[in-house]
Amino acid sequence: MAEDHFGEHVAEGYDRSAADMFEPAVVDPVVDFLADLAGGGAALELGIGTGRIALPLARRGVPVRGIDLSEAMVARLRAKPGADQIGVTIGDFATTRVEGRFSVAYLVFNTIMNLTTQDGQVACFQNVAAHLQPGGCFVVEVMVPDLQRLPPGETVRPFTVSPTRLGFDEYDVASQGLVSHHYAVAGGNLDVVSVPFRYVWPAELDLMARLAGMTLRERWSGWRREPFTSDSARHVSVWEKA
Ligand SMILES: C[S@@+](CC[C@H](N)C(=O)[O-])C[C@H]1O[C@@H](n2cnc3c(N)ncnc32)[C@H](O)[C@@H]1O
Repeated sequence: MAEDHFGEHVAEGYDRSAADMFEPAVVDPVVDFLADLAGGGAALELGIGTGRIALPLARRGVPVRGIDLSEAMVARLRAKPGADQIGVTIGDFATTRVEGRFSVAYLVFNTIMNLTTQDGQVACFQNVAAHLQPGGCFVVEVMVPDLQRLPPGETVRPFTVSPTRLGFDEYDVASQGLVSHHYAVAGGNLDVVSVPFRYVWPAELDLMARLAGMTLRERWSGWRREPFTSDSARHVSVWEKA
């Protein structure tokens, strides 16, 4: 079973610390994109969390189900209006099965990298394929590993630097791992959270998809279908089940 890094302490502050990601300008294009792919069918969110995407997607009329490891995150989702429309199963999204056939499954906000082994990521694609109807799609939003910007011999890349927040990724290139460190000062207290990830290349994801019987249908650098280029820092990829 994967390790739960979203316990009570993280869950309690999640919506607050990720407030920017809950803005309509961020959420609406994601929901548009997914509702379009669902095309009248149902959606499955892996790592549904506190419902940032699932709740507005369900409000659009798309039947949504979710999987998440964290009871604490899901408790926040269940306390929100509209959550009674969304069935959630507690478990590891690499292996947990839920009832139903889906036209779209999605895994956003870098969460594929929470699976810290290649075997886990491969199993996740296979699990998704088992839930999709033929022609159904798997959508992943994830960063492009930042190695292009990592000077030779160095291991650390900052992603947030402000008087009250410091965030940096610590790369271990040999194991294709990184640890994201978050330091935040609030009310005179220092809050420190470090989460392990496995970074993963777009082409490696394409191969995982192929192993699971899916092929790449679209790759963009954002939810508004911005072109994916050599400079893109992240991608939104869609694989289709044969
Ligand atoms: C960064 S949060 C994203 C939550 C939500 N998708 C969003 O966009 O706000 C990652 C979520 O994935 C869940 N998660 C991480 N690894 C998981 C795993 N192996 N199986 C199931 N859930 C997992 C965490 O508990 C957490 O709720």
